[in-house]
Amino acid sequence: MKKLVVLLFFFLFLNGCSTTTTTADSETDASTPRIVIGFSQLGTESNWRKQHTESVQTELEKEGYEVLYRNAYLSLEQQIQDIRSFISYNVDIIVLSPLQESGWDDILLEAQKADIPVFVVDRSIEVSQETLKKSAELALEEGAGKELMVTHIGPSFKAEGNRAGLYVSNYFRNQEYNEIKVLELTGNVNASPTILRSEGFSETIQRNYQDNQQTIQVVDSISGDFIRRKGKEAMADYIAQKDISQIDVLFSQSDEMTLGAMEALGAAGVTPGKDIIIVSIDAQKNMIDKLKAGEVNCVVECNPNQGIYVRNAIKRFLEGKTDLPKEIYVHETVFSDDMDFSQIPPRNY
Ligand code: AHR
Repeated sequence: MKKLVVLLFFFLFLNGCSTTTTTADSETDASTPRIVIGFSQLGTESNWRKQHTESVQTELEKEGYEVLYRNAYLSLEQQIQDIRSFISYNVDIIVLSPLQESGWDDILLEAQKADIPVFVVDRSIEVSQETLKKSAELALEEGAGKELMVTHIGPSFKAEGNRAGLYVSNYFRNQEYNEIKVLELTGNVNASPTILRSEGFSETIQRNYQDNQQTIQVVDSISGDFIRRKGKEAMADYIAQKDISQIDVLFSQSDEMTLGAMEALGAAGVTPGKDIIIVSIDAQKNMIDKLKAGEVNCVVECNPNQGIYVRNAIKRFLEGKTDLPKEIYVHETVFSDDMDFSQIPPRNY
């Protein structure tokens, strides 16, 4: 395509950027320039994230696209800089897996001006009304792209929160409890999984009183930024300051944080899965093992294998299909202590 030349610049000048070339599934002829995709990943904070990166990169390469990968190591500034370098090198498409919801207005307008379509994956983004207005004006200009972003492909984080809440409601139904106290361990502020999982969880547990005449309440919320070490620190601090025996449920928004929190609980003599009900989100292999061992009660899946959805959406877009939805949700499920564990598909992350 139009941008093959820029690839050479990328190899020469773009520090720290990795590219990989694999044999494509689809036919690519040596004389046809390949589509160049800049893939900006937010970090490598978990096994989940590593699988997500691998899935997106592998599927795009299978289609025959050239993938330029940048890791922002959990820095918003770095991620914006990475996208800016993709724009300077005039890639064909940008795939953005954003650290947080806000902060993208200017860089997305820059991409639109440069007529580079942006696909947002995993977490979602929010832009201001003013930016939407500027984007609509840009769409009328010659040479600019028609929209700020083509689509968002990822999990329904709110549904994940709903599923976690439903497990808790069902667990305590018909038990002699009037008030169930939940401690919530959240991810980084201003990230869509943090906001929407909390919202979904609260929405479902609030409905519980009507259904079961029991109150389920999030009594405290602590943050572990989706990182194991921080999950452990946040839980240890909480145990030092509050009476953990008052807490019935730990709702942790990611497996890495759950693993950290479980270490802190263990050190304080609390038996996870027995003294405190544990609901975690992600379904990494190490958490499924804990579920099977009875140390965790419910694991809500967050599906990192989003690459196939991204690949299909980009393919359809490049074929000129105009029917791409603005939101594409990936398939997800729930694993809990009352299920037949032999039904859980093996996982490699
Ligand atoms: O954005 C998805 C979340 O990010 C995953 O639940 C978590 O493990 C990761 O850090």
